[in-house]
Order: sequence, then C-alpha cells, then structure tokens
Amino acid sequence: MTSPIKPPQEIVSTITKIAPKIYDMTVVSTSEEGSAALISRNAKAGQFVMIRADEEGERIPLTIAQTEAKKRAVRLIFQVVGTSTHKLSLLKPGDQVLNLAGPLGKPSEVVEGKKVLVIGGGVGIAAILPIAGSLYHAGNDVTVVLGARTRDLLILKDEFKPIAHRLVLCTDDGSEGRKGFVTDAMNDLVANTGAYDVGWAVGPTIMMKMCSEIAKRLDFPLWTSLNPIMVDGTGMCGGCRVLVGNEMFFACVDGPEFDGRLVDWDNLLLRQKQFKTEEADSFHHCRLENQLHSR
Ligand code: FES
Repeated sequence: MTSPIKPPQEIVSTITKIAPKIYDMTVVSTSEEGSAALISRNAKAGQFVMIRADEEGERIPLTIAQTEAKKRAVRLIFQVVGTSTHKLSLLKPGDQVLNLAGPLGKPSEVVEGKKVLVIGGGVGIAAILPIAGSLYHAGNDVTVVLGARTRDLLILKDEFKPIAHRLVLCTDDGSEGRKGFVTDAMNDLVANTGAYDVGWAVGPTIMMKMCSEIAKRLDFPLWTSLNPIMVDGTGMCGGCRVLVGNEMFFACVDGPEFDGRLVDWDNLLLRQKQFKTEEADSFHHCRLENQLHSR
C-alpha cells in the first residue's frame, strides 16, 4: 500500500532576534510545490508576502528581505508591533507556519546605469536590502542611507557593504554614524550634490512623509513603500486603500511602491491610527495569555 502524499508545509528553519523587538526568520517549504518554494523562485525586489502564524493569528504583510530558490527559502524580517507579530516571534525552528502567500504587489522599477539613493529607516532597512541589491546588480551607482534611533536598531548594515558604492549610517542619538535623521543625510546628498537620478525611501510612515517633502521640494523622483492595514492582500477587501495624486489605489495590488511626492501622507497616517486601540487591546490580551501559559 502506498502512503498518502503529504501536502507541502511551510516550516520555520531559523529565527533570531537581531535587535530589540526585531526578528530575522527564514521559512522553507517541504516540497517544490510549497508556498516558500514558489515565492523563492518568483519574488522580485519590492514585493511582499502575507503570513499567518496560526489559526487565531491575522494575516499580516511582510516585505521579502531575501530568497534562496535552491533552499526553497524566504527570509522575512519583522518588528513586534502587535499580536500577530508577537505570535510570529514565538515560533521556533521546526514549527509550521499556517499560511504564507506571495509574492504579492508590484516589483520595484529597477533602473539601469543611474545614480540612485536608497534610504531605509528602522525595520524598513530590511525592505531596502533586495531593492539596493537589484539596483547594484543592474549597474547603478548605489548610495545607501540607513537610519535608526540608536546603534542597536541599525540592522543589517554589514549586508549592505557588498551592494552599495557608498553607505551612510545615521542614528538619532549619534551612537553610530552621523547624528541626526535620514532626512538630514538625504537633504545633504540630493540638495548639495544634485547628482542623483532617482531614490527609494522605506521606513516608518512619518519618515517616508518627511523624505517625500524633501523630494517634492527638490523635484526628486522618490519611491516609497506604503504600509497601510492589509486584510487579504489581493485587492478584494479595500482595507489598504491609499490616496496618490488624488486617486484611490489599493497598496496590495497597485503598490506597495508609489511616488512619495504624490502620496496623501496625512490620509495614510489617519487610517493607520484608526486601528491602534483595537491592536493595543489585542496585544495586551495575547501577552497576558502567554504569561499564564508559561507559568
Ligand atoms: S489588502 Fe485588501 S484590498 Fe489590499
């Protein structure tokens, strides 16, 4: 009698805390038909996945930091900001991830032979890793600016060294690199040299808004990766609607990258705030439950 064929599973192969509240996790498929295998073969820079840790968890969007087709592996870097990311952070090597779907969204528009500026702030640094890599390998002159509140949060900096012609580090408190925000570095680089053709900025919404204001003032094309609330990630629920150039788009299918100069940032910030209270309540409840179970 032949044994039944097992459906593919998505398994956590490694998970490491790389900074306070920030985790670096690799998910692999048990067969070539699995989601991680499919994503690892097809994902391009700028795309994302929807992931759900277990039955009670919500589907959340995470940018793909790296893929390795031979290993059927997808690397995801995330910050614990609520219940779902907290649940992901509790996974251990060998644990199964309930759902992984992707690659989703449109890939970054990778130019060739240009002078490009790629800015990452906080956990957004992980999202710009594949973007900077693709731009570098397409023959662009790449300057990378990384920023975080303090040195411990300045993640992945060594991984940018082989894919950046120039690497500028910034911390708010001056504990590493130049003291100040990525916007200060951007302003100096773009305004003072004027030598960049196009840029990317990915990080907290407020950072992308500030970078976009500089881009608008200097008439500098700047791609930003929007992170509204997403529910299905397929353009069906309307949860991720954003206003860009006074038109409505769905970030999950029309983005996530949009010209930052045209984004209605205040509308996005307002929509993100609407869910903060519910998320905080749910997160508090989830942590209490975990404490009870671990007693
Ligand atoms: S997440 Fe539902 S439409 Fe984009």
